[in-house]
Amino acid sequence: MKKLVVAIDGPAGAGKSTVSQLAAKKLGYTYIDTGAMYRAVAWKTLQQEKEVTDELILDVVKDINVRLHYDGNKTVVVVDDVDITGEIRTPEVSHIVSQVAALGPVREKMVDLQRKMAAEGGVLMDGRDIASHVLPNADVKIFLTASIDERAKRRYKEMKEKGFDVELDKLKADIRARDKADSEREISPLVRVDDAVLLDTTGMSIDEVVAEIIKLCR
Ligand code: DC
Repeated sequence: MKKLVVAIDGPAGAGKSTVSQLAAKKLGYTYIDTGAMYRAVAWKTLQQEKEVTDELILDVVKDINVRLHYDGNKTVVVVDDVDITGEIRTPEVSHIVSQVAALGPVREKMVDLQRKMAAEGGVLMDGRDIASHVLPNADVKIFLTASIDERAKRRYKEMKEKGFDVELDKLKADIRARDKADSEREISPLVRVDDAVLLDTTGMSIDEVVAEIIKLCR
């Protein structure tokens, strides 16, 4: 069977990484989490322990070496030869990542890497601009979303399970702010392209969403 290129876009907390990872595994495809790449740049920016400005971010991205490696189960994120997979989903990184992702030189470098990773096919890539910009010729395009309440609740549960002390209202405000920043930025904003299938996962279980994605790929 032809190895497809699958593009999944959607707002923060829609469950993209969770379901994409599982669907990729079932399809025998490589999963590429593009949000993790922007998070990696944000993480390295925070490591500088300086005020976070656009200049600082641009300085960091100049010589950052980001590599994603899919171990068959999850995406391992390596920055300058250090595995930072466990460190990119902190509230601190989430807080500055939209600023990082809005900068042209950051996006150019990441998009270039993303296209190279997808060149052979058999990939499922998720993000905000995959169908609209990174892989406009993808075979399957899905726009995954859920209500803001449901997305905030899912993130809350995920963060609590990881031991973070978070508040639901704050998380919701943060997601809302990121939705706005990601949808209104000038370069490659989050959009649903005309030929993307809309999948609203509000009230759906993870297994149901994964099954729906597999169905769309078959
Ligand atoms: O999916 P995520 O929450 O890990 O993404 C982190 C941030 O990166 C998000 O605020 C938007 C940005 N992003 C982007 O601009 N383009 C992508 N293809 C993926 C993520």
